Amino acid sequence: MAKLDILIAPDRRLRTRCARLGAVDDAARRVLDDMLETMYAAPGIGLAAPQVGVLKRLVVMDCARNEEEPAPLKLVDPEIVWRSEALVTDNEGCLSLPEVYVDVERPDAVRVTYLDEHGTPQEVEAEGLRARCLQHEIDHLNGVLHVDYLSAVKRGVILRRLEKSKRRKQD
Ligand code: NI
Repeated sequence: MAKLDILIAPDRRLRTRCARLGAVDDAARRVLDDMLETMYAAPGIGLAAPQVGVLKRLVVMDCARNEEEPAPLKLVDPEIVWRSEALVTDNEGCLSLPEVYVDVERPDAVRVTYLDEHGTPQEVEAEGLRARCLQHEIDHLNGVLHVDYLSAVKRGVILRRLEKSKRRKQD
């Protein structure tokens, strides 16, 4: 496994609608393993492939708490097939927007279909933090970031600030 570089917004690759895989091969499995290592090292609870510059519909997650056993989840071509009517607002962070936390209203529960790392179709129903994480990561596959739930003015301020701090690091 290898740790990958996480892209920081603004970056065009984070704004791309990623391609479906349709099947799972060794290359996809390797990317999923590398993404999981990268996510744990960050540390984070979810990571989508475009965040490491891979424009495919791949997601890794682990929402287990510190005292719980690790519960890694690898999803290929995840798709939300059901959303609860009940909505919940909670604060979200994102590894591609360091130190930017946004209150986002989302369905409290979702059902998601996906292929596992062996290419077998699976379905997961989640609520609370896991449902939020699934929705946040699937947003990434469609080029959507948590700041998109803010007004255009607030989003602009945040993205310009990130752009400036990126340029400072490059100098
Ligand atoms: Ni994110």
